[in-house]
Parts: sequence; C-alpha cells; structure tokens
Amino acid sequence: MSIKALRGMKDILPPLSRTYLQFIQEASKVAQNYGFEYIETPLLEETALFRRSVGESSDIVGKEMYQFVDKGGNDVVLRPEGTASVVRSFIEHKLDKKGGIHRFFYYGPMFRYERPQKGRFRQFHQFGVESFGEPSVYEDAAIILLAKEILDHFEIGHTLKINSLGCPTCLPPYRQKLIEFLQSHEDICEDCKRRRELNPIRTLDCKNPHCQEIYKEAPKLLEHLCDECQSEFDKLQELLRNEEVDFEIDEHLVRGLDYYTRTAFEFISTDLGAQNAVAGGGRYDNLVELLGGKPTPAVGFAIGIERILDLLPDQRAPREGIYMGVLDPEALDLAFDLATKKRKTTKVFLEYKPKSLKAHLKSADRHNARYAAIIGEEELQKGTIWLKDLEQKRERSIHISHFLELE
Ligand code: HAM
Repeated sequence: MSIKALRGMKDILPPLSRTYLQFIQEASKVAQNYGFEYIETPLLEETALFRRSVGESSDIVGKEMYQFVDKGGNDVVLRPEGTASVVRSFIEHKLDKKGGIHRFFYYGPMFRYERPQKGRFRQFHQFGVESFGEPSVYEDAAIILLAKEILDHFEIGHTLKINSLGCPTCLPPYRQKLIEFLQSHEDICEDCKRRRELNPIRTLDCKNPHCQEIYKEAPKLLEHLCDECQSEFDKLQELLRNEEVDFEIDEHLVRGLDYYTRTAFEFISTDLGAQNAVAGGGRYDNLVELLGGKPTPAVGFAIGIERILDLLPDQRAPREGIYMGVLDPEALDLAFDLATKKRKTTKVFLEYKPKSLKAHLKSADRHNARYAAIIGEEELQKGTIWLKDLEQKRERSIHISHFLELE
C-alpha cells in the first residue's frame, strides 16, 4: 500500500510552487516597504500559549489544535496561527521592556484540525505581519493598506470589511447587555450557548441561519462604543476614504480569535466559494500584557496563501538560465568547467550525454532555459561556443571569454 500525504495536507509542486515563492517574495517586499522585518518562530509551542491568547471560546482552541505530549512530557501544539507565537517571542526577548516600535513579518505553515474542503486545509500557509508599540489608528490604516497592496499586486478582487470591537471601557457593559439578550433566547444553537458563557460576542458571527435571524435584533456594539473608540473608528474610516479604499462596515465581524480590541477587518475574495476570507486581522492591545509582558499596543493581519494561489493563474515562468550540451564526448570536460564558472552567477543545466543539436534544443526548451550553449568538435578547436537565445530566437558563435561575461 502506498503512503500518501495526510488528509487536508498538500504538497506544493511546480508550477504552483513557483507562484508560491513569487508570492512570498512580492509580499515580503511590500511589508519591508512598510518598515517590517522578518521574524521566524518555531512551529511547536506550549499549548498554554494558544489557550491563553486565541482563547477557550474559539473553535481553534476548542476543536482544532494538533496537540500532543512530547517525549519530555511537555504539552505542545503545532501552531494554529502566528500572532501568539510572535507575541511570545516579543516578550521572551524583552522587546516590551525596551519600548519603541517593532514591526515583524512572517510566513509559513499553520495547522488546524478542520474539516478539509476547497480552500480549507489542515496544514495551510499564512503570510502575516505584527506591529508592536504603536497605539495610533494610523498604524491600523497602514496595516490595512499593506494587506490591500499585496492583494492588488496580485490582482485579487476583494471586499474589505471593518468593525470596531471596543475596548475594556466599553466592551464589558455591552457584553452584559448582549448576555441578557442571549439569555432571553433559549432557541439559539448549542455552539452559541457555549459561546454565551465563554465569549458572548463570538455568537454574533454564528453561521446558523436561525441564530442570524435572532441576532438581527441583538444590541449593537457599534452603538455602545465609548467616545475614544468611536473617534478612532471614525478616523480609521476617514483615512481609508482619503486613500480611496472601498470598505463596508460589518457589525457582526467579530473574528474567530479572542484577542482583538477595537479595529477588526477581513478581506473577502469576490471570486472564491464558501471559504472566501483571504486575509484577516486587527488590533490586540491587551495580548502582550495577557501573556505576561509590559502593556504594549499591537495590530496585525495574516493572509491565507492557498486561497491566493487558488485565484492566480499557473504561471509559466519566464525563460531563465543556460542549458549546456555537447555534441562530442571530448567537449564535456570544457563544458563542465564552463558550467561550474557560470553557476557562480547564473542557473545552468548541463547535459552530460552527447546528443545531436536538434535533441539538445528540444531539451533546452523543456528546461525553459533562456539560452542553449552547445560545444562540438569545431567549437573546441576554435575556442568558441554555439549559443542560441531561445526567447529572441537568435543564434551566434561567441568566444569562450565572451560567454563567461554573458549576463
Ligand atoms: P485568521 O482569520 O484565523 O487570522 O486566519 C487568517 C487567514 O488564514 C484567513 O483569512 C484565511 O485566508 C487563512 N486560513 C485560515 N484557516 C485556514 C485553513 N484551514 N485553510 C486555509 N486557509 C486558512 C489569524 O490567524 C490571525 N493570526 C491574523 C492576525 C494577525 N491578526 C492579527 N495579527
């Protein structure tokens, strides 16, 4: 019986892997333009990290963690998301004590034991950014613009949804009103009854149509924001309008993770099916403190890379590098030496087996090479190389020294 990849986990092979790399490169460039630097954290973390941050009421912690006890008896989990790990690292390296602004970006696999379907995997990849130390709502706007710039770069059609989840001043009294409302409706689903106890605002994004109908009458958080949250939310909208960013206010957008305060947002693809959220994020001003650090405002987002790849056409990579071949076995030593020299700067594929020119040109095309460089007896005597530019469809004989200078 052959061994296959686990359910919900996928290999990424060419040509898709080419697009994947290109996405990482371009997204990293955009993040760097916004002042973010690369951070890498381990895939395995203590289970308590996600219990405390993502929260007990979330589906992620409640149902979806790849959790196990390692050989040393540690309760560990394959990270289901990146924010908690970056916050852990931020505190562990005492950047909270140092103060100032710290901006990070990351990418890599995340693990959630969800029911696999189109656009939803058990191992998937995120590209994310996290900004620490900046309380200004301008940073929220910059983070949203950063995400949008990445989506625009890849021409991903999207709708932006924003909401404010309030702060420790205005959220508790609102939560109390919501609990009272929820207690007067015993016909809500079992999941919502659980959320009512753990984190009542999470009920609002329940997908159950009956619950949705009930929540139309629920008290609205946006009508209970304190003055500061209200003016920040107004300012965010103004900044987005100034940058000509279209958005919708979605008062039921509460996000699936418990750590958010104030700004929450999601980018929804206009071209995907049920799993249509391509990116999500928001502000989490209490999380650093909650995980034992010095109170530090923070904001970030993550993009689901598989969902982006689903929307991009397979890319035929531009022709690249040199294919080298010999017509006679005697030419192989020289070809090998030249290939070694060229490989310091250029991608070279060297075919060891002597073949006819026609067969070599066919192979060069299969390798998607920009140039075919062929050496036969005649070239060996003259110290030249027969070179064909496969893109421009031009051929010529050039001296070896010119070949080595070729870009
Ligand atoms: P999230 O909304 O859970 O947020 O995930 C962000 C994105 O990851 C989603 O919008 C989606 O595109 C992708 N995604 C999530 N689950 C799956 C899955 N099972 N299969 C494929 N793609 C998936 C977070 O993870 C937060 N850490 C974002 C954040 C960063 N907030 C602040 N900073």
